[in-house]
Amino acid sequence: MSGDQPQDCAAARHVAIIMDGNGRWAKAKGLPRVMGHRRGVEAVRALVRSVEDMGLECLTLYAFSSENWKRPEGEVDDLMNLMRKFIKSDLPEFIANDVRLHIIGDWQGLAPDIVAMLENALEKTSGGSRTLAVALNYGAQQEIVRAAAKAAAQGEVTEESIAAHLDTAQLPPLDLLIRTSGEVRLSNFLLWQSAYAEMLFVDTLWPDFTPEHLRQALEDFGGRERRYGGR
Ligand code: FPP
Repeated sequence: MSGDQPQDCAAARHVAIIMDGNGRWAKAKGLPRVMGHRRGVEAVRALVRSVEDMGLECLTLYAFSSENWKRPEGEVDDLMNLMRKFIKSDLPEFIANDVRLHIIGDWQGLAPDIVAMLENALEKTSGGSRTLAVALNYGAQQEIVRAAAKAAAQGEVTEESIAAHLDTAQLPPLDLLIRTSGEVRLSNFLLWQSAYAEMLFVDTLWPDFTPEHLRQALEDFGGRERRYGGR
């Protein structure tokens, strides 16, 4: 992408979201944490359905970080089971709606049955025109190390050669990174890709985040001027 001229953000191609606040959503309602994650999946489903209307080419969601293994075993199990259910129930809809699934992160390190389900889903959706990228067992620092090591093994280590080996190499450049729940940090998500991305931190807890919130975020993005280091 050109780094010389300020550019108006007419339309975002690629939005990424740190989906945060499931636990607090559940706690505020006196519900177990798993209910927050379940409602979180419903928010994911509604958002994926809206991607085409929003004109997005790619939506990337941070579903499970490499640090999330530190959570209590029961919660990790809940999240993995939700993942299994989600792939199973929503795969036909992805195929019908031309959604291509892409996974970033060290997903081969997940349980073998999930890896098999993901491989099947990747194959079945490979012809889709819009991409849902899901970060699973993902850490940006680890991704950069992996990419740099591959670049070094093949020759020169440059910005281009590292970028070409990132898990996102086939995705459009990241335009907008959103984090929900009022926390203002990146938590090891898309650190390389965010170099020139716009950021938006909203107070809404993830289970309450709707396509309307995304529409507003895109409107906000459209009014920004991107400089890419220029003036
Ligand atoms: C953060 O909430 C959310 C997560 C760690 C997981 C996000 C997962 C989902 C939305 C469900 C699974 C997704 C898919 C695609 C099937 P938190 O638990 O950290 O909330 P808290 O900070 O309020 O405790």
